[in-house]
Amino acid sequence: MKETKYKGIYEIQKNKKRYLYTKSLDNISYFNEQIKNGYREFDPRRSKLAAAIIKNISLLPLKRNQDILYLGAAHGYTASFISDIIERGMIFCVDFAPRVVRDLYLICEKRKNMIPILANASHPEEYEKRITNVNVIYQDIAHKEQVNILLKNLKFLKKKGHVLLAIKARSIDVTRNPRDIYKDVEMSLKDKLKIIDKKVLDPFQKDHCFFVCQNK
Ligand SMILES: C[S@@+](CC[C@H](N)C(=O)[O-])C[C@H]1O[C@@H](n2cnc3c(N)ncnc32)[C@H](O)[C@@H]1O
Repeated sequence: MKETKYKGIYEIQKNKKRYLYTKSLDNISYFNEQIKNGYREFDPRRSKLAAAIIKNISLLPLKRNQDILYLGAAHGYTASFISDIIERGMIFCVDFAPRVVRDLYLICEKRKNMIPILANASHPEEYEKRITNVNVIYQDIAHKEQVNILLKNLKFLKKKGHVLLAIKARSIDVTRNPRDIYKDVEMSLKDKLKIIDKKVLDPFQKDHCFFVCQNK
């Protein structure tokens, strides 16, 4: 197991294939993922973050002790790996679907650095009193209005903080070429954020693009 160029992300290469891992905080497999000597396998077919790492995104702005606002945490798959990386930081995990938040609660009971929040990310006032300002906003909500929803949440981002954004083209417009949608997203973000890199995530995540941005 060797650490990649991204801090906290490890890999093994086998038969020309790369397998990603994080160092588990508690040695528990929450999603049937393999654990090897305390390292949990992080699957690019299940997480857009892992796919962006395999695609060699130029910056992964996740560090120990950072605070993260995660919009669209669902059952907590990707959030649990971010939890491994940030250790003593805190992840505020927002999702509006009660069914998935129920599963998320079970992980958050075990992980001291994850807080579940059942709320709509379109209405940040629902959770503004329950969170602090954060170093990173991670957004993966597969919603037509996802860029506007992100912009509404930027008030929680610290100066020079980063945004990790997974865009699902088909949720925005099924009839258009995904690459045109990604260009439009970039234009809408540019006013508020500096775009550091973007990676199309096919074939791991079909019709998805991942953006890394920084607060101006
Ligand atoms: C693709 S899933 C997220 C998967 C997760 N990020 C992962 O990698 O483990 C998208 C999630 O966004 C949530 N979602 C969509 N719109 C939302 C909104 N306006 N506010 C909060 N959650 C939302 C959905 O309930 C769903 O659980």
